[in-house]
Amino acid sequence: MNIEGQTHTDTAPLLSRTPLLEIEDLHVSFPGENGRKSVISGLTLSVNAGEVVALVGESGSGKSMTALSLMRLLPPDAEITSGRISFAGRDILALSPAELDALRGADIGMLFQQPQAMLDPTSRVRTQVAEPLWVHRKMSRHSALGRVVNMLRDVGIPDPSARAQCFAHELSGGMAQRVMIATALSGNPQLLIADEPTTALDVTVQAQILRLLDDERRKRSLATLLITHDLSVVAAFADRIAVMYAGRIVEEGPTQAILKAPQHPYTKALISCSLLTTDGAGQLLSIPGSSAHAHELSCGCRFHPRCAIAKSSGMGNQCMASEPSLDSLPEGRKARCWAVGHHHDEQTSC
Ligand SMILES: Nc1ncnc2c1ncn2[C@@H]1O[C@H](COP(=O)(O)OP(=O)(O)OP(=O)(O)O)[C@@H](O)[C@H]1O
Ligand code: SF4
Ligand SMILES: [Mg+2]
Repeated sequence: MNIEGQTHTDTAPLLSRTPLLEIEDLHVSFPGENGRKSVISGLTLSVNAGEVVALVGESGSGKSMTALSLMRLLPPDAEITSGRISFAGRDILALSPAELDALRGADIGMLFQQPQAMLDPTSRVRTQVAEPLWVHRKMSRHSALGRVVNMLRDVGIPDPSARAQCFAHELSGGMAQRVMIATALSGNPQLLIADEPTTALDVTVQAQILRLLDDERRKRSLATLLITHDLSVVAAFADRIAVMYAGRIVEEGPTQAILKAPQHPYTKALISCSLLTTDGAGQLLSIPGSSAHAHELSCGCRFHPRCAIAKSSGMGNQCMASEPSLDSLPEGRKARCWAVGHHHDEQTSC
């Protein structure tokens, strides 16, 4: 349900089936004590034009590393060891630094969790919002600056003429995120990558920012990769969900189908924790166990140490011995689980 009690699919526009963003078999790793530490392992995902895909999963599952890989903004010691990322038919991994700069400001917009940290503390709001217009849309500086007040008004900033003169530290968190939205949209992108765009904001401001984002993406038919912990946000805004665990996609499919009838035990656990947010003593619920060392498991299903189904079904040996592949299911769904699909992934068996 969305913030007005409506499900996203009640209102979703007709979506294009043309993939705008395609990630194929992406592997990302960092240097570790015993060789390289893999943080994304064989991730395949696409976002169609105009579609909202939510990437969900516990902390450390690799959501931000996925987003940063798409923009080639990974930390310097991270390496994309293999895979392919294509945006509107262009190979992102083969672009030059200048081509990447052009892509980031114009074709792909980005929003992050800490808007104040993303704004330049030394430059006024009006300069930061106008910059993509003169850099990417080739407007004169004068015309670009002349448009800023309207752009700030469009994203709901009160007294936009005064705010345009402010520096980042003079803005509230909600105001700073509105400025980031105006900046991200000013290049007129086709894809928005939003990594926890409302997590740092208080609940009332979260709802306002989400409504603004939804309005803007509908007006512009903007494809969105939305990274969030909040399944009520996913239910309200996303067409499809991809669930990540320990650097892998474990389940994927249309939002309502997954939320109503999750197949993978990890997705089921995530959904039950989000529905029953506290345990009666006020403690936030979480899935028993930890994913901290799941990336390091050399074989078997990465979720098996925490999986209630493996324990209760007698499938534990199979789950420990070999990893299932991400199998296609009816209705455009996929799941990576021996209890759901039964194809053997030869490469990861031991
Ligand atoms: N600079 C780094 N050096 C080594 N490992 C890193 C570094 N940054 C992230 N990682 C590891 O990469 C993995 C994925 O991290 P990522 O930030 O993508 O998680 P996330 O799903 O976005 O989590 P969160 O929900 O907390 O934002 C984690 O195991 C994390 O410890
Ligand atoms: S493959 Fe086995 S351990 Fe992994 S999620 Fe499925 S039942 Fe659980
Ligand atoms: Mg993150």
